[in-house]
Order: sequence, then structure tokens, then C-alpha cells
Amino acid sequence: MNIKNEKFQGRLGAYKVIYTEDQTPTLWSEYFDENCHSLSGAVAETIFNYIEPTKVIERATSSANFTILEVGFGLGTGVNTTLEALDHIEGARVKIISLELDPKLVEWAMKNNTPKFTKMPSLSDLKLVDLDGITSYQTATEWGEIIIPIGNARETVLKLAQLGIAKNIHAIYQDAFSPKKNPILWTVEWFEALKSVSHPSAILSTYSASSSVKKALCCAGWIPEHRKGFKGKRQSISATLSGKMSQDMQDHLSRSPVRPGRD
Ligand SMILES: C[S@@+](CC[C@H](N)C(=O)[O-])C[C@H]1O[C@@H](n2cnc3c(N)ncnc32)[C@H](O)[C@@H]1O
Repeated sequence: MNIKNEKFQGRLGAYKVIYTEDQTPTLWSEYFDENCHSLSGAVAETIFNYIEPTKVIERATSSANFTILEVGFGLGTGVNTTLEALDHIEGARVKIISLELDPKLVEWAMKNNTPKFTKMPSLSDLKLVDLDGITSYQTATEWGEIIIPIGNARETVLKLAQLGIAKNIHAIYQDAFSPKKNPILWTVEWFEALKSVSHPSAILSTYSASSSVKKALCCAGWIPEHRKGFKGKRQSISATLSGKMSQDMQDHLSRSPVRPGRD
């Protein structure tokens, strides 16, 4: 990413570029008063928290119509790092739907992203389209497709489902701001909506290790499991829709007094 601005104005307040320990940038959001990534490394965190646990490389070559849903486009690190990882993988195909509230972030990412992939689509080629009333940034090649619908994810995901665009999702990058700052994207009702658009083999992954999030996932029909956390963080969570919850997780949830987040 070739960053030209140190600070820019979005629709939801200002954003400030911050370089993380792996020399890749993240943004601090004035509106949410939070960084988009761990300061220990934006790209390294994306690989660790999303690309590895959702098994993108293996599944993009073996599942037909492999589809990723990202909750929060941010500065495009999740989309870009995923496309870069798949660009040279023989037979990889992917559709990425990345939900975002602030269109100015997408416009900023289009200007500041120079990589041109060999096979996969690039953020710099996004075009504005109207998806039956939803403003969306989109581009595609023979191997990949990027769709970035603008609006509150709580509403857009349901509209996308009605349009037949959000369905059979194989991988979910649950990368909203923290449950404290961005609570509507961590509730039982939100995780139910995500389940309703998912393929039975879906894997959801998130950086959060909150017990309230584990309980919300559980109440929505997901089976959460602990994962190691990124650089110094004790834990993160991945979740699936089939299988049996580990005894360790059952014990943890029954011991924890916290309640699941609800709307
Ligand atoms: C942690 S950042 C995402 C970082 C991004 N995945 C990346 O790799 O660059 C969270 C993003 O969620 C977006 N967001 C917050 N609330 C939202 C909502 N209700 N609907 C859609 N997007 C939302 C924010 O604007 C922000 O860009």
C-alpha cells in the first residue's frame, strides 16, 4: 500500500494512518476511537486471525464458488492480503463480500492501493454500482470478485441475502470494532443473521476472546472454539456450524457469569 495521506476525513469522523510493527499501515478511527488492527502488525494479524483459521488457501481451490464475508472493510487489508495470498495459487477462485459503513474508506483504499494482481481483482479497479438500492463498489476478473456494499451491515446483509448475493458463505472475517465500541455487530441476532447466509461448512473467525461473544455465538447456533491469540493476546475465537463443542469450551461457558450480547 502506498500511503499518501497521514490523516483524512471520512463520513464518520477523521482517520489517522498508523504504521504497525510489521511496517504495514492501519487506521485509527475518530468516530469509534479505536485502531483497525493490532499495532503488532496489520497484515500479520490478518493472516493469523482470518486467512489461516478460515483455511482460505485450501478451500479456495477445492470449494466451488468459495465466498468470504468480511465484517468491516476498513482500509482494505483483509481483502488485499487475501487476494495477494491467492493470486499465485493454481486453481484458486474467490468471491469476497466486505461490508462497510463509511464509503470514504473505500475511496481512500482505491487511491492508496497500487498492487495489481496477476489473476485476482485489485481495489484500484473498483467501480461504483447500484445493487437494487445498495451503493456498492465492485470489480471482478475470471478468478475473483470483490463486492463492497455500503451501509449498516445489520441491514445490508439481509438485503444481500434477499438479492441472492449473500448466500453459502464459506468464511467469515468477523472484524468489526470491539464489542464495547461497536456492540451491534456482536449480538446473538447478528450472529443469527450470519448463520442464515452461511454454507454448512462455514468457518467464522475473530480476534475477540470475549466470553460474551462466545455465548452470543453459541446462542445463535455456532460452535465456538478457542484459538491462540495474535502476538501476546491469550486467545481468539473461531466457530463452525457442525460438530461438537469441546469439553473445555462447555466448562468455560458454564463457569462464566457474563451474558451474551443481545440487540
Ligand atoms: C476493525 S475495522 C475493519 C478492518 C478491516 N477488516 C481491514 O482489514 O482493513 C472495522 C470496520 O467496520 C466498519 N463498521 C463499523 N460498524 C459498521 C456497521 N454497522 N456496518 C458496516 N460496517 C461497520 C468500520 O467503519 C470499520 O471500517
